[in-house]
Amino acid sequence: MTPNQKTVKPLLFILLTLTTLGLMAQPEANYDETKVPKFSVPDPLTTFSGEAITDSQEWEEKRKLEIYQFFEKQIYGKVPALLDEYSFKVIEQDNQALEGKAQRKQITVGLKKNNRTLNFNILLYLPNGNEKAPVFLGYNFHGNHTVTDDPNVIIPEAWNENNADLKISSNKATEASRGVRMHRWSIDKMLDNGYGLATVYYGEIDPDKNDFSDGLHSLFYAEEQTKPKTNEWGSIAAWAYGLSRAMDYLENDTNISNVIVFGHSRLGKAALWAGATDDRFSGVISNNSGCGGAALFKRKFGETIGHINNSFPHWFSESFKKYSNKEEILPVDQHQLLALIAPRPLYVASAVEDEWADPKGEFLSTQYASKVYGLYGKKGIDLTEFPETDRPIQQTMAYHMRSGKHDVTAYDWDQYMTWAETFAK
Ligand code: GCU
Repeated sequence: MTPNQKTVKPLLFILLTLTTLGLMAQPEANYDETKVPKFSVPDPLTTFSGEAITDSQEWEEKRKLEIYQFFEKQIYGKVPALLDEYSFKVIEQDNQALEGKAQRKQITVGLKKNNRTLNFNILLYLPNGNEKAPVFLGYNFHGNHTVTDDPNVIIPEAWNENNADLKISSNKATEASRGVRMHRWSIDKMLDNGYGLATVYYGEIDPDKNDFSDGLHSLFYAEEQTKPKTNEWGSIAAWAYGLSRAMDYLENDTNISNVIVFGHSRLGKAALWAGATDDRFSGVISNNSGCGGAALFKRKFGETIGHINNSFPHWFSESFKKYSNKEEILPVDQHQLLALIAPRPLYVASAVEDEWADPKGEFLSTQYASKVYGLYGKKGIDLTEFPETDRPIQQTMAYHMRSGKHDVTAYDWDQYMTWAETFAK
């Protein structure tokens, strides 16, 4: 071997390993519509083997299952096994919370596997004066105590991402961050309109860092195992699973009529996967969920598979890494994830300035999923033109493009409540 070959071989090996792991420096994001590649949208109504699907029964028996299994094994990752035990305990209750407007309950859910336990807390507000109310269930980013200034809401112990603006340091939430995210949750309006809210701190299910030693994943490990297997769950699937475990409690609360699952951004991705995996959710809301959520991968506009796998290697299953910068070989796209939720009501919301999340890709994917809703006689999004800003379209599928940035605003919640009136009450 010449000296040159000696250095080239290990270099090639490192390059190959990094590429396989999706850890290479990523190309800059494209924000130019003229540079969006030409691509064909995989047809939700043609099976992988080329068979045409003509009705809802064929869809459910043939196509839905194969799409579901693809997303499960190749994108978000499979849940490895059943739990050994599950428990819940109402640890705090006040029937006259928020100046008498609400009943507040805080419930500890316990998940047990292999003699290891993970606990998380649900904060639940239900409107007083209603026998049964529909509830929005959504994760929060920094703790249940951040969504309200109610002094009785428990502060989470779990690892928390530092954020100077939200007064979180040393990876611990404290009293200082109580109420810092109130603007993202229209709690008063929900209660006034007869809706409840259930929220959970997502870090109690799985801390959002590239480390599989803690959180839900670790409960399921065999001896010596340190991370999920190749086709098993990443963090998004674990968060989705946590929403279903919250649902196990909520569906048995006699004051709750039905549950609409909601999520913003990475938690919107989790809400969509929860909606696809668990049909007990009567409606699903994706707020600015972007790449790996409602947006089409194949447009490669804003964040791409390469970017997301590179910055958040723990979010998807390991098997998804092979699609980094190879969108063209992916046999599905995110409109098919949306289609898995059919015929249940689904709201996809974008924001004009949220280009990283590709608002147009979120809209198109909603539109392309519509034909599956059509099989059930449900109305999807039949617009061919991109909708006007701040002009929501609300049918069984709903969409709006809000003016402004990546966020959850009172405007968004106003639309969700108006839409939910049509099916949740
Ligand atoms: C990052 C990430 C997005 C994600 C967002 C969020 O911007 O790239 O995919 O949606 O964080 O969760 O706020």
